[in-house]
Amino acid sequence: MMASNTENLAVWQKMHAVLQGFSHTPKAFVQSFGCQLNFCDGEKYKGILADLGYTLMDSPEEADVILFNTCAVRAHAESRVLGRLGTLKPLYERNPKLIIGLCGCMAEEQEVQEQLRRSYPFVRLILGAGAMEHLPTALLRIYEGEKRLTVTEVTGIPDEALPTVRESGFMASVPVMYGCNNFCTYCIVPYVRGRERSRQPEAIEQEVRKLVEAGYKEILLLGQNVNSYGKDLDEPVSFPALLRRLDAIEGEYFIRFMSSHPKDATPELIDTMLGSKHIEHHLHLPVQSGSDRVLQEMNRHYTTEQYLRLIDDTRKKDPDFSFSSDCIVGFPTETAEDFEQTLSLIRHVKYDNLYTFIYSPRPGTKAAAYPQCSTQTEIADRMQRMLQAQREITEGFNKRFLGRVCTVLAEKFNEETGMLVGKNRHAMNVEWKGDPALVGKMLPVRIIAVKNWALTGEML
Ligand code: SAM
Ligand code: SF4
Ligand code: F3S
Repeated sequence: MMASNTENLAVWQKMHAVLQGFSHTPKAFVQSFGCQLNFCDGEKYKGILADLGYTLMDSPEEADVILFNTCAVRAHAESRVLGRLGTLKPLYERNPKLIIGLCGCMAEEQEVQEQLRRSYPFVRLILGAGAMEHLPTALLRIYEGEKRLTVTEVTGIPDEALPTVRESGFMASVPVMYGCNNFCTYCIVPYVRGRERSRQPEAIEQEVRKLVEAGYKEILLLGQNVNSYGKDLDEPVSFPALLRRLDAIEGEYFIRFMSSHPKDATPELIDTMLGSKHIEHHLHLPVQSGSDRVLQEMNRHYTTEQYLRLIDDTRKKDPDFSFSSDCIVGFPTETAEDFEQTLSLIRHVKYDNLYTFIYSPRPGTKAAAYPQCSTQTEIADRMQRMLQAQREITEGFNKRFLGRVCTVLAEKFNEETGMLVGKNRHAMNVEWKGDPALVGKMLPVRIIAVKNWALTGEML
């Protein structure tokens, strides 16, 4: 049970008593949206609810508590959640004791809080992304008679003792830090997630060690900018130093991490990765744009020359090294010429994976006030061209793995194709004919063909 102080203990005990008074088994449903950090928070919401005594459900229909753990990064993500929330209204009308809560990043936005109060009276709990550990207290207050409650608080790091219900038995996410200090002009994250706060290296090491001992094969370290890890600690620790400490843990497993901000990615980071036993030879290094002027207006603090130098120097050390990236299409000041520069950067780098987003103005961010200089048709056309360019690059570049034997972690079994699907140490998708019982194992696979999204292999 999570009880790091007497007050918490009293709340958890009262909640247990409330739930024991139910005439049926208390049930809860949690759905997460957005990035991997948010899914990681979702596992903690589930952990708290399970520990309080709720049975976790796969759908909301029979639940006594429904939590939507939300993402605010683009308008589309928000309208999707609001649409889903609307479908819950009949459940509340049938059962007025039902507690429907909106938590995560949207819950930190004042506009959203007001909209929920105005138009979604059946949403009784608003719990901000930094207020996760207040969930038991908030539920108790509602059970004790409060009609609706808003708790937002973006400070500190979640209690290390919070329980977690992990979705997978072999892949685990481990947050190393929370928040972001960078204020890219298009991005809402620093407003909803607060400033950077790092976990203590001892706590991270202890968690990873336990996971490896429990048989986890992939550890995903998470933060909005992991390269800033440790700068805020009383005794600062660099991210490469943290990686070396974790890599020393004995066992058979991969370490992956995201996201890395290019302004803080250093040759020391690359050398640490290449010299490691467990860290994947893959870096997610979101470039956002290939135009220096746009990068400056995005407040990204690097130039394309600095970015490409890191990529080229890395490929001199390991020609196979795999990069992936995020790109925004249609940033307000992006011209046709700026877009051509982004395409040429993509062709130079040859990313193994590219995540592309149409710019979405976010309330309160600096760029939301910039006038849009392109039409929606022009932006849609650029997006199509970018996707096409990336398809051509991936297929060509994937060929470097043909004939090689890779160690692959089998992540799932595709019933339709009878193929196992997983990733190698370069974070490349690999599929091969195999037995579903092999899911969760690290296996040697020879690559015999390439597709644009995956390598096809055969088991040795
Ligand atoms: N912290 C990471 C970084 O800077 O690399 C990125 C985190 S953000 C949650 C994931 C991606 O969403 C960003 O890299 C960016 O491409 C995209 N994104 C953020 N704000 C956006 C916006 N307003 N419109 C479109 N895409 C956006
Ligand atoms: Fe957003 Fe920039 Fe922070 Fe990434 S680094 S979360 S894009 S503000
Ligand atoms: Fe979305 Fe919040 Fe992640 S805004 S991308 S869920 S940090």
